[in-house]
Amino acid sequence: MNNDFTKAMDFRHACKAFDENKTIADEQLHYILEAGSKSPSSFGMEGWKFLVITNEALKAKLRPACWDQVQITSCSHLVVILTAIENVKPSSGEVEKRLARRPLSKEQLSGYVDLYSKHLSETLSSDENIYHWTAKQSYIALANMMTAAAFIGVDSCPIEGFEKEKVEEILELDTSKWQVSVLVPFGYRINEQSEQLRLGLDDVVEFID
Ligand SMILES: Cc1cc2nc3c(=O)[nH]c(=O)nc-3n(C[C@H](O)[C@H](O)[C@H](O)COP(=O)(O)O)c2cc1C
Repeated sequence: MNNDFTKAMDFRHACKAFDENKTIADEQLHYILEAGSKSPSSFGMEGWKFLVITNEALKAKLRPACWDQVQITSCSHLVVILTAIENVKPSSGEVEKRLARRPLSKEQLSGYVDLYSKHLSETLSSDENIYHWTAKQSYIALANMMTAAAFIGVDSCPIEGFEKEKVEEILELDTSKWQVSVLVPFGYRINEQSEQLRLGLDDVVEFID
């Protein structure tokens, strides 16, 4: 099977340098961000925020904290994916608010919040555990944004090579509320796409009948 989705998967690569003279149009950026926001999240908590940075001075400040990677400054838009700490705690009131978007009676809603707190008691027991839980989910949004971008001819590169505390300091984040999960610059490639190196399906798939 070969279709537009396949083309997008083949177009996407970890773009190492962007054309500094090209900017992503607002409409396209919106399309990419919407793909991120439509991603699934545990209990529908949407424990993420997408910081979109175009300020050149801020990008330049962030670059040394991101292993001095050129993608940070050459991209059109740098998206920093933040992951929620406070909002996923029932005490914040946000959990109830988000669950209340569903058609639930008052009793059902309070039962649901109890279930959430009980199932996630270990996860919610420390900010560190919360970070691992919400950060994992934010990678789904990351993947969807990169594929959506590729679908409309926009390049990207997932960036895990960064010093978390330094980036959070530069962005002046209150880390009891939000922490940095991963960064993803978007823009247009300046060099030829690298060859897609992948193991065969036989190496990564095992069928159990
Ligand atoms: C979680 C994650 C973190 C990554 N971090 C970086 C990074 O900091 N810098 C970089 O140039 N590439 C980074 N990459 C890109 C990978 O090196 C790349 O996806 C992989 O080598 C496969 O190449 P391709 O995406 O071009 O097919 C990262 C990829 C993932 C999934």
